[in-house]
Amino acid sequence: MDRALLEATAAKLVAPGKGILAADESNGTMSKRLEGVGLESSEEARRAYRANLFATPGCESAVSGVILYDETIRQNMDDGTPIPEYLTSRGIIPGIKVDTGTKDLSEHRFQMHGEEVEIDCLPGEKITMGIAAEPENGWADLATRCAEYREMGAGFAKWRAVITIGDGMPSGGCIVYNAMALASYANICQQNGLVPIIEPEVLMEGSHDANRCREVTSEVLEKTWDFCKSQGVHLPGVLLKPNMILAGNACATQLSRREVAKSTVDCLAESVPHDVGGVVFLSGGQSDEDATFHLHFMNEMDVEHPWQLSYSYGRALQAAALKAWAEEGAEASQAAFAHRAKMNSLARSGDYDWESDSA
Ligand code: G3H
Repeated sequence: MDRALLEATAAKLVAPGKGILAADESNGTMSKRLEGVGLESSEEARRAYRANLFATPGCESAVSGVILYDETIRQNMDDGTPIPEYLTSRGIIPGIKVDTGTKDLSEHRFQMHGEEVEIDCLPGEKITMGIAAEPENGWADLATRCAEYREMGAGFAKWRAVITIGDGMPSGGCIVYNAMALASYANICQQNGLVPIIEPEVLMEGSHDANRCREVTSEVLEKTWDFCKSQGVHLPGVLLKPNMILAGNACATQLSRREVAKSTVDCLAESVPHDVGGVVFLSGGQSDEDATFHLHFMNEMDVEHPWQLSYSYGRALQAAALKAWAEEGAEASQAAFAHRAKMNSLARSGDYDWESDSA
């Protein structure tokens, strides 16, 4: 394992003023997003929208890396330059989503010492797949894919585990099996020279309060680090992509933006080892402004913590750009993206200013 390379890549991804653009929606999700703004989806439609986004003038001052999907990392810019090569030429590190999606945990068959183990979980809970080969879906095993993506120029990878809060949820099995998969993924990435982004997303859907979100987030994080330790994952060469601490979207009592920021940093301070390479939040369905404000308050607060607190936003960086792409065209889409990227870049140092955002 090339520890120096992993640490250097992680440090570049969380360089001051910069964060990650998550443009790694699966073909199904990206198609829904395009259709949601009234556009038809096709391989070319997904390429054209994303190539335009990546070509945004000056975006490298706010974007350190872009997470791509398998289809996109194999596509070209309008002039024929391969997308990973183009991003690298702008000083932006190409990354790759390597999980292959989720399936019902209750249907998952886990083997230990040749025996099938029964999993304690509840209906509807998910496990993220992608370590073993899935010939039926055209996926090679994770180590093979990581080596290929590295050859193509990728410097980092992403794996998202999904944890739902609900009646009796998450179960112990859901937490343990997802944490175990995250650690195995991280280890395989590092063996292949890719910085793993560990993303255990506690969903904001539900009527739970913020205390419950914090309790579950801590438990999931702690279990994930336990498995990382036993798998020999090199933490300075890892980025954590956590949810923020929010009450569920159906909860009557919501935290203020400053409370979200404080509670999130407090939770991380208790549950994240100090030597993890950096923290890059997901936006998870928050409004664009909430995602920026929360990051701003976290970075503005006078609370000691050892990590850079940055962004790896999908929707909160792209929603306005996608709408503009459908309604006004290429330049407007780039302007919308450049604006949100700049606002989040300012939030990295607690210098976001609502008036210039809304002007
Ligand atoms: O895995 C989730 C994405 O990488 C981040 O997307 O910011 O829309 O939650 P989001």
